[in-house]
Amino acid sequence: MTRDPSADSRINAEDIRRRKGGVPIVCLTAYTYPVARLLDPHVDLLLVGDSVAMVLHGHATTLGASLEMMIAHGQAVMRGSAKACVVVDMPAGSYETSPAQAAASARRIAEETGCQAVKLEGGVDMAAQIAAIVAEGIPVMGHIGLQPQSVEKDGGYKIKGRTQENIAALFRDAEAVEKAGAFSVVIEGTMEAVAAKLTHHISIPTIGIGASADCDGQILVIDDMVGITVDRVPKFVKEYADLRSVIADAAARYAAEVRSRAFPSPDHVFTTASGKDET
Ligand code: KIV
Repeated sequence: MTRDPSADSRINAEDIRRRKGGVPIVCLTAYTYPVARLLDPHVDLLLVGDSVAMVLHGHATTLGASLEMMIAHGQAVMRGSAKACVVVDMPAGSYETSPAQAAASARRIAEETGCQAVKLEGGVDMAAQIAAIVAEGIPVMGHIGLQPQSVEKDGGYKIKGRTQENIAALFRDAEAVEKAGAFSVVIEGTMEAVAAKLTHHISIPTIGIGASADCDGQILVIDDMVGITVDRVPKFVKEYADLRSVIADAAARYAAEVRSRAFPSPDHVFTTASGKDET
């Protein structure tokens, strides 16, 4: 990476790594400039998740995300934030083939967005990719447990950690991600007790989503958290606002006022009657 991460005042990956076992790390996804501006004062980390493909672009799965899409949204979130550690997701197809492919894609994301870190899904199977990206000087956040890029292969969104065999695999994944040099790891859709044990087992912060309150931090998809998601909202989401109703109500009132010609009113048009400059 050409940028010196210590040259700015943002929270960086090392700051996040040091938060292991401390005050919980507050994370949300963000995809756009205005939302990044609103969230930045309140969070430690903004993830430009590949969930953007579903949330903003209407794809059925995160497989609809492309490198170009992630870079464009990463640039918008960087412009809209000044404090948060910004992590950009590596989309499916941009890293799995080889460590060299992963390093090249991560370099492109880091150079074109200026983000603090990238995230990729996988454990033992992606350890070489994580190590190759870290060797480039680009911090990596891992992602284990339920991996949305693999839902088609897995036959749906299946909660992990239900069998002894899968629990053992999760421990191997967590250890591999840590050993490969990741600064933190997302644990998604995993039985609560297992996510808690994983958190106490590894030395890097775990960020839970549908996991455990014992995780070192929590993340939610912003559109789920503010109640704008129009399709099914997963069980692990807590809606802190109801923007669906706010937007629907505003649209209904606007439509009624346009149809009755109540909008625009004299306050919202330009006239010369006042004799003053108007903007
Ligand atoms: O893409 C995403 O939003 C994510 C979070 C759910 C962790 O990976």
